[in-house]
Amino acid sequence: MKINRWEDHYTRLARNEKWLARSVYKLEQIDNRFKIFQKGDRLLDIGCFPGSWSQYGLKRVGSKGEVVGMDLTPPRHSFPSNFRFIQADVLSLDLGWLGEEIALRDVVISDLAPQTTGVRSVDATRSVSLAGRAAEIAYAVLKKKGHFICKVFEGEDLNAFRAETSTHFRQTKLFRPTATRKGSREIYLVGLDLVK
Ligand SMILES: C[S@@+](CC[C@H](N)C(=O)[O-])C[C@H]1O[C@@H](n2cnc3c(N)ncnc32)[C@H](O)[C@@H]1O
Repeated sequence: MKINRWEDHYTRLARNEKWLARSVYKLEQIDNRFKIFQKGDRLLDIGCFPGSWSQYGLKRVGSKGEVVGMDLTPPRHSFPSNFRFIQADVLSLDLGWLGEEIALRDVVISDLAPQTTGVRSVDATRSVSLAGRAAEIAYAVLKKKGHFICKVFEGEDLNAFRAETSTHFRQTKLFRPTATRKGSREIYLVGLDLVK
C-alpha cells in the first residue's frame, strides 16, 4: 500500500468536512484564540488558493459580509456571489489600484508561502519578504482597528518583521496553531487593532 506522508488527522478531517485544504484548521484555531471575525466583515485573503481560508471566512462573515481572495492561481472551486477573486502577483501589485478596486477591509489574512528550496535560510528570507508585502497591503486597505493574520517562517528576520508590524497595531502576537505540521517552521503573526 502506498503511504502518503502528508496524510494526517487534519487532512482526513478536512476531506470529511469538505474544506478545500487542511490549513483551514490553523485559521480556525487562530480565530478561536483571538476572536478575529464578525458577521458582516469585509475580508481580504492574500494567497487564497485553493481556498479553504476563504471558505472559512465566508462562513464567519455570513451573507452580509464579503471576501476578496487574491493569488497567482485562480480557485477551481465555485464560491458564492459575495466572494471576488483577483488574480495577481502581490509583489508587483499596484496598491493604489487595489485601494480603488475594493472597499476598506475589516480583516486581512495572508497565508502566502514561497516555493520552498529546502534551504532554511533562503526559504525564511523569501517568506519574510512575502509577509512584509502582505503587511504593506494590510496597512493600505485595512480600516482603523482592523486585524491582520500573516504566515511567516521562523528565521533571523522574524524579530525585525514583528517589530515593524508592532508600530502599526495596538498589539501583535506570534501564534503557532496545533494544526501546524510537526517540523514546520511556520508561525502566524496576528496584528490586532490597526492604529491609523
Ligand atoms: C499555502 S497556500 C495558501 C492556502 C490557502 N490559505 C488555503 O487555505 O486554501 C499559499 C499560496 O500563496 C500563493 N502565492 C505565493 N506567492 C505569491 C505571490 N507572489 N502573489 C500571489 N500569490 C502568491 C501561492 O500561489 C499559494 O496558492
